Amino acid sequence: MEPLSGPLNLLCEFLRFPSVSTDPSRAGAVSACAQWLAGHLAEIGLLSEVHPTPGHPVVVARNLHKLGRPTVLIYGHYDVQPEDPVELWQSAPFEPEIRNGVLFARGSADNKGQIFAHIQGVAQALKNKGEIPVNLIFLVEGEEEIGSPHLEGFLKAHREALRCDIIAVSDTSMVAAGVPTLTYGLRGIAAMEIRVKGPSMDLHSGIYGGAVRNPAVVLAHLLASLHRSDGRVAVEGFYDAVLPLEDWEREAWAGIPFGERQIEANTGAPALGGEVEFTALERIWGRPTAEVNGIGGGFQGEGTKTIIPKEVFAKLTFRLVPDQAPEFVLAAVERHLRAVCPAGVTLEVLPGHSGETYVTDPHSPCGRAAQEALRRVFPGRQVALTREGGSIPIVNTFQRVLGVETLLLGLALPDCRAHAPNENFPVANFEAGILLNQTLLEELSRVNLF
Ligand code: BES
Ligand code: ZN
Repeated sequence: MEPLSGPLNLLCEFLRFPSVSTDPSRAGAVSACAQWLAGHLAEIGLLSEVHPTPGHPVVVARNLHKLGRPTVLIYGHYDVQPEDPVELWQSAPFEPEIRNGVLFARGSADNKGQIFAHIQGVAQALKNKGEIPVNLIFLVEGEEEIGSPHLEGFLKAHREALRCDIIAVSDTSMVAAGVPTLTYGLRGIAAMEIRVKGPSMDLHSGIYGGAVRNPAVVLAHLLASLHRSDGRVAVEGFYDAVLPLEDWEREAWAGIPFGERQIEANTGAPALGGEVEFTALERIWGRPTAEVNGIGGGFQGEGTKTIIPKEVFAKLTFRLVPDQAPEFVLAAVERHLRAVCPAGVTLEVLPGHSGETYVTDPHSPCGRAAQEALRRVFPGRQVALTREGGSIPIVNTFQRVLGVETLLLGLALPDCRAHAPNENFPVANFEAGILLNQTLLEELSRVNLF
């Protein structure tokens, strides 16, 4: 283990809480993590509070606000994804370890390491200069990984206290190590579970096979019907609201030092797939998808069990782009599945959580200030203007409820293994994030917002 400096040590403390928001048995750890975070924010000199919600708590901290200064809200999340499959981790997920300058732990990249870089940036500025140049609000929630079910209500209930001019979020990626990245768009998401039910019990596949429809075969057929052979989603109306990519975006993305080769290397996929007429980056950042996240049912044990399963299921998510609406897409998919589904089984369609898409102007006054801050932290490097394939649904809610735009300044790397075993965050990115927080607040303090 390499020796740890102050901020890194503190980040490791933060990472030791197994704050898995989706796991009810971890609710105690989630709330202990919120308490620890609020305590730390108070220690660095901010007024901080833990707000209970019907789910996991929200942590809010602020400096003393002064008239005439812009108010910047920095959002992040302290909840993390489950650590399983735990046996694939090289070191324990909640015992952070640094190997070759890279910090390994669940949440190191998504999102504890990134939000904590901002917190340490503020801590250092307060310590060295006694103040920061803006009115600042930290809003750190514990339910991002489960779709932020209570944050919209919280924003509405605290609209006045959360009034701000601009929001900054570091919960996305840089296109490559050392390449400053400003993200101006996120995909939305719509989730659904489908269940195909057949006979009232598992059947002997010799006694009944051939005469009774097999729900697993029907499910395979339904799932296969979602795509055409050219990679397009086959659901009628799916693309109706999709805005075409702008020429400047396609040109800018063609020059970004991240593409098919890196995606193959990062993922280990033997070849890439998708809509044939788009590049890999365009497919991820600017086009919608239909994904199967999990399939279950039937015999999963070793060897053979000759049955027709009574019931099977699949979990689906659709990544959406402007201007697709989640409810419209879910309804179109349900119509498609019902039309394809044969008689002899029943199909249940259960809609899940959803989140809207987001796109903003990277050349707005605050966007330009963010680009300048990135240039100062990564001198001599061109700022990559990107959209992202992932979703942070609350960013659209910020726009809708608070009327405020969000700057997305990602610090993670594309191979950070977010949501997977061996999630990691380079110490250099943590340090760059601390500096970025300070340059960003300086640049934003100079923007004329009035
Ligand atoms: N930090 C991610 C979102 C992200 C990842 C954006 C990579 C851009 C690039 C966030 O924590 C996340 O995982 N969001 C979920 C949202 C869902 C649970 C509603 C996602 O994208 O799957
Ligand atoms: Zn995540």
